[in-house]
Amino acid sequence: MAKIAFLQVGYGLFGEGWTDLLVRSPYSELRGLVDVTKEARERFQSRFGDRDIPTFANLEEALQKVQVQAVLIAVPNRFHREVAEKTLTANLHVLSEKPLADTFENALAIYRVWRQNPKLVYMVSQNYRFKPEIQALKRALDEGICGQISYGTYTFHKAWRFGGWREEMEYPLLEDMSIHHFDILRFVLGKEAEWIVMEGFNPPWSWFRGNAAATGNLLFEGGIRINYFGSWVSFGQTTPWNGNIHLFGDQGTLSLENDLLFFTNREGKKEGLPFQRYETDGRIQALQEFCSSILENRAPLTSLADNIRTFALTCATVESAKKKTWIRVNEFMQKISEERG
Ligand SMILES: NC(=O)c1ccc[n+]([C@@H]2O[C@H](COP(=O)([O-])OP(=O)(O)OC[C@H]3O[C@@H](n4cnc5c(N)ncnc54)[C@H](O)[C@@H]3O)[C@@H](O)[C@H]2O)c1
Repeated sequence: MAKIAFLQVGYGLFGEGWTDLLVRSPYSELRGLVDVTKEARERFQSRFGDRDIPTFANLEEALQKVQVQAVLIAVPNRFHREVAEKTLTANLHVLSEKPLADTFENALAIYRVWRQNPKLVYMVSQNYRFKPEIQALKRALDEGICGQISYGTYTFHKAWRFGGWREEMEYPLLEDMSIHHFDILRFVLGKEAEWIVMEGFNPPWSWFRGNAAATGNLLFEGGIRINYFGSWVSFGQTTPWNGNIHLFGDQGTLSLENDLLFFTNREGKKEGLPFQRYETDGRIQALQEFCSSILENRAPLTSLADNIRTFALTCATVESAKKKTWIRVNEFMQKISEERG
């Protein structure tokens, strides 16, 4: 099998795991690493020094010195645009960590550059979609187990101390975490959100500067209402990273609770829905999807063209929280259409 040659940019909290995948996967080969900090480059060398993979302090030098087909972006959100633009200008495929960018303007700027050469594969690793429990949730929904869905609830509770840039963001939960949940909703419902209202707040004990919690509603096509509550500072009754999801239809309730799938019928009888589990946070499958799409010359599942819609949901929630009003998601979609011309 042909392997895709990668340059990785960013070797922090999540970048470390990506390196493990890139060197082990039958689909990829890691040819170089870029990180602006010496400490990160040394950490990389102490782990992978025997593999003779060069490290660089800046992307331009790396692009000159190593021959690759693709760049993996694993730097903080506010640097995604600059790395993406340089990579696309160098005519290379991009596998980017979520979120696509830090602002909608920067996401549109990336989209604009990519549109000049749309044959390049640009995928955002929205890895939660590829987890077995999320795939199983979608399958059960597609099989019509609930009948007609009309509403649902989505709750997420964790207490996580990252330190660093997340703790300085204005809406860390919505901008860096809830985007996974919004993407899961788009994926499993197979529908786009039309209206959003969201309130951000910061509980008194929070260690984040910005709003670490949010609550609101997303109104999807077909009038499906999802009530959302998320917090990054919840102690006690916490949820998995996927959150807990309940979807209500005229035949009963489909739920993902603690990463287990259940159906409760109209009479209240609750049964587990078994599915095949595999150990993954979804990145193994995301990497495989990215490399296969290059080899097969097709768009990947979470392509830039699709993922900018997920990113638009996050931007709409932040705008709603700032303006304290309902936001029509189409305002964002319109701007994407204008770019397409
Ligand atoms: N999919 C997921 O579940 C998931 C989980 C965690 C993080 N992420 C995403 O991964 C990205 C990285 O997050 P993290 O937690 O690893 O951040 P981090 O701060 O721990 O690491 C980022 C690394 O990038 C380096 N860096 C910063 N700017 C750079 C630049 N211009 N060029 C090269 N290197 C640069 C830093 O020195 C650091 O080593 C973020 O976009 C984040 O949202 C995704």
